[in-house]
Amino acid sequence: MQQPIAILDSGVGGLTVAKEIMRQLPRERVIYFGDTARTPYGPRSSDEILNFTREIVDYLIQYSPKMIVIACNTATAVALTDIRSRVSVPVVGVINPGARAAIGRTVTGCVGVIGTEGTIKSGAYEQALRELTPHVQVVSEACPKFVPLVEKGNFSSQQTYDTVLDSIGHLRSYPIDTLILGCTHYPFLTDTISEIMGPNVTLISSADETAREISTILQSSRKLASNENENIPFHHFFCSGDPEIFKTIAQQWLGEQIKLTPVVWLVPCIS
Ligand code: DGL
Repeated sequence: MQQPIAILDSGVGGLTVAKEIMRQLPRERVIYFGDTARTPYGPRSSDEILNFTREIVDYLIQYSPKMIVIACNTATAVALTDIRSRVSVPVVGVINPGARAAIGRTVTGCVGVIGTEGTIKSGAYEQALRELTPHVQVVSEACPKFVPLVEKGNFSSQQTYDTVLDSIGHLRSYPIDTLILGCTHYPFLTDTISEIMGPNVTLISSADETAREISTILQSSRKLASNENENIPFHHFFCSGDPEIFKTIAQQWLGEQIKLTPVVWLVPCIS
């Protein structure tokens, strides 16, 4: 069986990246881990996030992936360098791809970034954006209430609208023309965020650019799946929390049935 691409996130957010990888690279087999028992990562300490990410990578490595995708901005900010030093396969994060996409889009040079407390506090997007364009103006906002809504499947209720308005409504007073959804959960709220920010603000999710980066890496290392004679590969999902809600959200988002294996951590959840 061909080697899979391993994708991880604190919960269902990384499915936004997984879906784009499956779309751009339909021959690739994907394994996905959502750490739903310990979501959200955003308010946690760097040490906790680092340990959780290592633990998931250690779990996924038993499936001999050809690449690891940290489809979580919070874990990318804290753990990307560490994970790269621990494994022998390429490891891709979601922050640089998102920053690249935003710089390619902005005309006013004023870019908004919304993300978890951890991601915003790390300053990782500001740094990535400034490395690309030193004079870019960056307006950042942490939105800690978004991930719990998404994990409950609450994408478009009045409560969701009010929460999003309350969290990012004030960003409309800046000359932002490009808003980075700096958390992989946020594309689930695209309709609401877009309604609040208005038609002149382009929303950037890193999924598209991340999938392109993966494709380039696999192509240059000659690891792209080219199995024309084999059937389309089956994907395999794992989650550490309630399997029913994960399955419902994943199947709805991906538009297909999924194979899901619940994983119970031996180490109890730290809250
Ligand atoms: N989806 C993740 C991110 O991109 C993590 C959200 C969370 O668990 O707080 O940051």
